[in-house]
Amino acid sequence: MSVTILGIESSCDDTSAAVIRDGVMYSNLTANQNVHIAYGGVVPELASRAHQANIVPVIDQALKEAGIEVSEIDAIAFTRGPGLLGSLLVGTSFAKGLAIARNIPIIEVNHLQAHVLALFIREKKSERQIPEFPFLCLLVSGGHTQILVVKDFLEMEIIGKTTDDAAGEAFDKCAKVLGLPYPGGPVIDKLAATGQHDAFQFTKPIVPELDFSFSGLKTNFLYFLREEMKKDSEFVKLRMNDLAASLQHTIISILIEKLIKASELTGIKNIALAGGVSANSGLRSTLRDTAKVRDWNIFIPAIGYTTDNAAMIAITGFFKYIRNDFSSLDVLPSARYGI
Ligand code: KG4
Ligand code: ZN
Repeated sequence: MSVTILGIESSCDDTSAAVIRDGVMYSNLTANQNVHIAYGGVVPELASRAHQANIVPVIDQALKEAGIEVSEIDAIAFTRGPGLLGSLLVGTSFAKGLAIARNIPIIEVNHLQAHVLALFIREKKSERQIPEFPFLCLLVSGGHTQILVVKDFLEMEIIGKTTDDAAGEAFDKCAKVLGLPYPGGPVIDKLAATGQHDAFQFTKPIVPELDFSFSGLKTNFLYFLREEMKKDSEFVKLRMNDLAASLQHTIISILIEKLIKASELTGIKNIALAGGVSANSGLRSTLRDTAKVRDWNIFIPAIGYTTDNAAMIAITGFFKYIRNDFSSLDVLPSARYGI
């Protein structure tokens, strides 16, 4: 018997819909919200309004691209949290409405678990190696930075997390200081490709165990720029690529050092990346290099499944569906929904 899941993601500023049948991606569509660019970050009220405008056309298009009728959907998976409450409400309410109309179940999905399970999405044409349990996952996004022990599809334990900003936030906030557009992570990544990663040295925090901290780096970066700009007002313009490369290098080494520590402490050598920052080319290549030295088996998501997308919600829904793990219609979105 085949299982078809419609996935809906609306936790932040991307409205996304996807269709997954038996673990294989049939469509995965995202409407990005350009409305936030002018503000240099996500404005929650505007995000909810844009979700409201985008959700019907995005779902409609996802079904069309999949070549699947709404009557063929077995269940609707939606992001329950964590995220912006107003944004989550749009996806949750739509899922409930469609489920009632079609008389099919809904499945609540934890956005963070979904980022990890994106590693298991299969595609019609390409084969990708899927992780073996247990594995360690470095989950790095705009809102979260965590190291997880993934014991099974729906069994994950957080063994390290940020005590302040997330890694993606560090990219975005430092990019803003450089006058770059939001989100800054991809822009820094591009600029860093032609910069010297050892041109400047920035603060690496001393944080116990497997936890992270990025707020000190952000402050250090800002003060450093202020001092240099006093000496030469063209400094940022002239050294943009070196600044981007050095900043990126610092963030990556903070992340990789903790991942090495986590592997040594747990003895786990299956290592995966997930979340928006896992799109970073420097992080991906540093993980590959580290894996060679440390004899790790690594699992890196396809670029299309790194940042927020509904295919990851649908695949999580699929794993829950085959375990009969459904939600009741009175489920409410949860801004701080934990793993
Ligand atoms: O997972 P995601 O789409 O949303 C959250 O759940 O937060 O992650 C978005 C974050 C942003 O901070 C963005 O700057 C960062 O991922 N990001 C990157 C890259 N692509 C996206 N950071 C560094 N390099 C990239 N190539
Ligand atoms: Zn995310």
